[in-house]
Amino acid sequence: MTAGSIQSRLNPAVRGLAISGIRRFSNLVAETPGAISLTIGQPDFPTPEHVREAGKAAIDAGYTAYTPTAGLPELRKAAAAFVQEKYGLSYDPATEVLVTIGASHAIDISLRTLLRPGDDVLIPAPVYPGYEPQVRMAGARPVFVDTRQDGFVVTPEALARVWTDKTQCVILPYPNNPTGAAPTRAQVEALAAFLAEKDAFVVSDEIYSELVYDEAHTSIAAYPGMWEKTVVIHGLSKSHSMTGWRVGFVFAPGELTAEMLKVLQYSVSCASSISQYAAVEALTRGKDDAHAMREVYRRRRDVVLERLGAMGLQVTKPGGAFYVFPYIGQLGLSSFEFASRLLREGKVAVVPGDAFSPLGEGYVRISYATDDALLSEAMDRMERFIRSLPTSNAGIP
Ligand SMILES: Cc1ncc(COP(=O)(O)O)c(C=O)c1O
Repeated sequence: MTAGSIQSRLNPAVRGLAISGIRRFSNLVAETPGAISLTIGQPDFPTPEHVREAGKAAIDAGYTAYTPTAGLPELRKAAAAFVQEKYGLSYDPATEVLVTIGASHAIDISLRTLLRPGDDVLIPAPVYPGYEPQVRMAGARPVFVDTRQDGFVVTPEALARVWTDKTQCVILPYPNNPTGAAPTRAQVEALAAFLAEKDAFVVSDEIYSELVYDEAHTSIAAYPGMWEKTVVIHGLSKSHSMTGWRVGFVFAPGELTAEMLKVLQYSVSCASSISQYAAVEALTRGKDDAHAMREVYRRRRDVVLERLGAMGLQVTKPGGAFYVFPYIGQLGLSSFEFASRLLREGKVAVVPGDAFSPLGEGYVRISYATDDALLSEAMDRMERFIRSLPTSNAGIP
């Protein structure tokens, strides 16, 4: 086979995918000495010590073999108890909980099971870039639903406008990456009332549910008529600062998990045994570990909001996660130009908004999962950069 013929023989659905814009940008950062990176999508805290110790103890005890495909029974039990206590969700650990390799894998096995070629999937956007490629690889079509005029929370009216007979699934990515939007209880209720009447699945990615700042997190699966059709995605990456341990969860009715279990089995056999033992510790003795981190993020969020406001940027106040998504469109630069120049001239890295679907153009994502002193220095640099732009006078005192 020649190089050209190899390419043409490969799966076009895979060839058509692009490398994530976030990764592309963080590579540029690595090449810029002295830059402060606000591109990071993971907590800046270490995994809690007692959880790390549980992982080490699992190795020492020799718990290093395959686990059941669905995950350790004690972990499924702990995960079911966690979502019951925190969000009022009832799942049978024996048949309605799966342990996956991070939330990414939970999304993967869910979409591969729920989607058929030709289906449409509604994705509120701007949005985390992980869903669209999975939808495309399943042969389905992603349909972005614009949330920009609604505080980045999708409304029943916006869903109704694009709804067709082909709508097989709606993704609800809340609390949201990249905008930090967290719907109020009333907003979730309105979505549930609309979706309960529809013949479509819901994939509710709630990985940031422990990091909400105002109202308590509400899961759509807790509403009448929703449990039966909803797949809830969870994981420990954000709540317990465990991105590298790769532990995620699917919570769904047994009829769905029974099918997903096959995809899980044939793709990975099971999640890491060591990580699963650490996860039991995280979800039992460490079930409230996120609270202390959340308070730090809340303080940083308030500082960053104030600083961006003083720079004259328009920002929607984030209710969760650890991101803000200011609008920079009035400065006369595209998201990519703004982020590239801020990196080169101001030595601060942020992610261009178009990494989060075309509807993110005109915005940038700032992660405040960053040490306070660095964050403050980054805000000073960003302010100096914005003031240096010819179009910067709008809104700046
Ligand atoms: C909304 C959202 N879902 C899922 C994931 C993936 O999480 P994990 O590291 O557990 O695979 C991320 C990671 O950034 C995310 O932001």
